[in-house]
Amino acid sequence: MFIVANWKAYVETAQRAKKLFVVSKRLASRYAGQHEILLAPPSPFLGMLAYANHSKVLFCVQDVSVDASGAHTGEVTAGAAHSAGASYAIVGHSERRAAGDTNEIVAQKMQHSIGQGLIPILCVGEHERNEDAQYLSFVREEILSALTLLSHKDRAKVILAYEPIWAIGKTASEAITSSDLTEMILYLRKVLSDVLSGNASKRTCILYGGSVEPDNARMLAEGTGIDGFLIGHAATQPESFQALVKVLS
Ligand code: PGA
Repeated sequence: MFIVANWKAYVETAQRAKKLFVVSKRLASRYAGQHEILLAPPSPFLGMLAYANHSKVLFCVQDVSVDASGAHTGEVTAGAAHSAGASYAIVGHSERRAAGDTNEIVAQKMQHSIGQGLIPILCVGEHERNEDAQYLSFVREEILSALTLLSHKDRAKVILAYEPIWAIGKTASEAITSSDLTEMILYLRKVLSDVLSGNASKRTCILYGGSVEPDNARMLAEGTGIDGFLIGHAATQPESFQALVKVLS
């Protein structure tokens, strides 16, 4: 499975970052061949840990700038993240969308990421589940618009993370049910099949994120059709991250 640890802004000291990295390295070599462990630390720690990384852990930047380079104080470009050791980029996370990323901005970030050799992890997900299933067309639009600037070849590289906003940052009891997740994954593959060539949509790696904890990870993994998880709070403590990887193994 793909296990992506999104540290968000939870990890604030180099000491904590190093400790989580040590634990992750151990997990990545212990479960090599079974899991890919990806860490998405805050940018300063990404540079610190990824630059000299010789372990099986892979690195992911939490966001990339909409600008490719130039006079943009405070921005982290896809090129800089790649050069610092990242090989993946989270793009369109709901917390970045809430801070102003429109579908158009997300599409440009997707293009920059791919252009600089980063594999984008495209986050999509509805605010709420409305009765008339409008949320399905909302998610469809997020996917279609994010892929518009990419060639068919590049679209096939994208990882999709379904993260319903109503389920983010809560506890296992408030996460999605496995039957709703199964349905959603089928729907996402159908949407992808409309915009990817040939059989590529069958091979797209699809992750789930939103209140994944050691208590519900296995239930969400089994039979739902997902290829992995994007994990927030539960991945920022060594004990719960280890427990999570263990229940998925
Ligand atoms: P959570 O965050 O696991 O804390 O719900 C997931 C995410 O936002 O990526």
